[in-house]
Amino acid sequence: MSSLLSVESLSVRYGRVHAVRGASLSVGEGEIVAVLGANGAGKSSLLNGILGLVPAHHGALRFASRDLTGASPPQRIAAGMALVPEGRRIVMSLTVEENLLMGAYLRRDAPAVRKEIEALYARFPNLAARRALLASVLSGGEQQMLAIGRGILARPRLMLLDEPSLGLSPLLVQELFRLLAELNREGLALLLVEQNTRQALRLCTRAYVMELGAIVMQDRPRALLDDQRLVAAYLGGSR
Ligand SMILES: Nc1ncnc2c1ncn2[C@@H]1O[C@H](COP(=O)(O)OP(=O)(O)OP(=O)(O)O)[C@@H](O)[C@H]1O
Ligand SMILES: [Mg+2]
Repeated sequence: MSSLLSVESLSVRYGRVHAVRGASLSVGEGEIVAVLGANGAGKSSLLNGILGLVPAHHGALRFASRDLTGASPPQRIAAGMALVPEGRRIVMSLTVEENLLMGAYLRRDAPAVRKEIEALYARFPNLAARRALLASVLSGGEQQMLAIGRGILARPRLMLLDEPSLGLSPLLVQELFRLLAELNREGLALLLVEQNTRQALRLCTRAYVMELGAIVMQDRPRALLDDQRLVAAYLGGSR
């Protein structure tokens, strides 16, 4: 599998806090890669560092055959990355539709954007019914769907998702993972941070495990599920 994203020795520091310590990882074309780890392990900092949203120091970051090591976040987005951040971060003072349009702000193909928004509404009827309302009226799950919809509208090649299932009901979690699988079948590569370890391992082709800012393990899901220590740490000791 050819590499879509390759990150070498990424470090993120906040003053004295060394949140990511020389992390190296790759995501292949059309691959689903999970990042697992405890609270504070540095998963969000890793994603934010890959998008360039936090000051990052790295040996190299290549994406879609281009060296984006020193590129700004808009340049990375234009190259085909999109981030669905932790805690949704939609704009409460804008309508549902305005939030979706934000995802497409770099695009020049208005008619195609319109078509894709309608396709998203067909997929998320709750959003369709509330398209003209302020995003602040949405439930937590609806906000999450809106954040993902906004990410899709950027028409990325790689979507970075930071705990997309957080706060969703079990039914919506199922729906979300179905959607991610479907997007992946359409060719979208995913780098997925999840505390819902079991679901993430079911979906991904490969996973990295982070501890104290460092990537300490990477393997296929099957092999990780055979690791007793890992199972005890992230799956409550059972399979
Ligand atoms: N803006 C910041 N300023 C200072 N320290 C920060 C900042 N953001 C994160 N940190 C610290 O960096 C470390 C990694 O945080 P990060 O949010 O990346 O972890 P995480 O793995 O995403 O955790 P969680 O699972 O709780 O979301 C933590 O110790 C955190 O306190
Ligand atoms: Mg986090």
